[in-house]
Amino acid sequence: MKLWGGRFAKKTDKLVEDFHSSISFDQRLYKQDIMGSVAHAAMLGKQGIISQEEADVLVAGLKTILQDIEAGQVHFEVDAEDIHMNVEKILTERVGEVGKKLHTARSRNDQIALDVRMYLKEEIKEITGLLLHLQEVLLDLADQHVHTVMPGYTHLQKAQPITLAHHLMAYFQMFSRDMDRLHDCYRRTDVMPLGSGALAGTTFQIDREFVKEQLGFAAITANSLDGVSDRDFAVEFCAAGALIMMHLSRFSEEVILWSSHEFRFITLDDGFSTGSSIMPQKKNPDVAELVRGKTGRVYGDLMGLLTALKGLPLAYNKDMQEDKEALFDAIDTVKKCLLVFAPMIETMKVNEKIMRQGVTGGFINATDAADYLAARNVPFRQAHEIVGRLVLYCEQAGKSLEELSMEELKDFSPLFGEDVYEKISPEKCVEARNVPGGPAPAAVKAAISKGRLYVHAF
Ligand code: ARG
Repeated sequence: MKLWGGRFAKKTDKLVEDFHSSISFDQRLYKQDIMGSVAHAAMLGKQGIISQEEADVLVAGLKTILQDIEAGQVHFEVDAEDIHMNVEKILTERVGEVGKKLHTARSRNDQIALDVRMYLKEEIKEITGLLLHLQEVLLDLADQHVHTVMPGYTHLQKAQPITLAHHLMAYFQMFSRDMDRLHDCYRRTDVMPLGSGALAGTTFQIDREFVKEQLGFAAITANSLDGVSDRDFAVEFCAAGALIMMHLSRFSEEVILWSSHEFRFITLDDGFSTGSSIMPQKKNPDVAELVRGKTGRVYGDLMGLLTALKGLPLAYNKDMQEDKEALFDAIDTVKKCLLVFAPMIETMKVNEKIMRQGVTGGFINATDAADYLAARNVPFRQAHEIVGRLVLYCEQAGKSLEELSMEELKDFSPLFGEDVYEKISPEKCVEARNVPGGPAPAAVKAAISKGRLYVHAF
């Protein structure tokens, strides 16, 4: 007998049974569902909507179900449709008729909104912890490489020298914004919808504030229709997750490039690389590739969720059951990727010498040569032109800027002096960029200290 079977003269078709049942995926909400019911039952008793004895029986019964699920002793049924009705059915089997009072002043519509919010709050906390750990790994690695000079790129062409620490700290900033976004998303998730009923609240004198306190929410939802139809928090999480993945994916792309034989900037640890079944020499950056690949899943979760919601009239519609698989997949994917990414970065070997070799050639110090002239009162546009011609000359002569003799340099501008060679050495190029947010060791050290404060504040 279905919990809603009263008005039906015929059994649900088997095909429909399988089609609409959500227990296969919403059973992961068992804890939130039961704790939500515990708070609800306690509230019903406190308000005299059911007797205190009845409330106690319900709460005790619910707690035994929780224990038994955790011990792996509960079997959920597809016919019971979802986690809510499975729990209610088991409760009634255990405590008898009084179990049927649990759903007083409640609907599965506000119940599922509650469960998902409770679940997401926990997961956001966990993901925040994983992100924080990755940030710590980045800070530690940056600390070791404040003086590790490497080429900075634009258009993937050598641009200006930077340091590895500076490059890593760029990712640190991205992950800080991700942390802020999760924090912000948490605020809007932390609102308690129970009491919205199916859509129009309830005729019973419930105490929503009590339930809110019991379940540790910051506030209660302000409108019963919105309370059951709002999935913004899930969309926001998926959007925040999509950005985390985008950052991880860009980082992955660099890990893949840098570990190639063409770059050789880094060597991935054997434990975080895989081989080929045919090519004996291969050591592939599969972890980074998979992270890059899984980014698409999370984008898909976000788009799926947005699309499922866009045409829905108020209030609850069964379409909304589709929110869970997308949300769960986004949560699982982000977590898995963060979990494996941090140790991959932590264990990789940095080939400092090869990075340093990368700043010779490619005229990576050309801006600094132009700055040298501009500092001697040549308008920058003109200095740019002079050095541009120098680069052309060098290319034809097969030389780098620092290999030119003083005479050759003076041919282009009489303002070039002996000190130019030092000024255009890669280390000096980096050191000179001592602006807040710049790559100079002093500036990066300041950024790392600030980063440590940020991480410790969490
Ligand atoms: N399993 C449903 C979901 O996940 C719970 C709410 C069902 N409500 C309803 N009236 N069918 O969305």
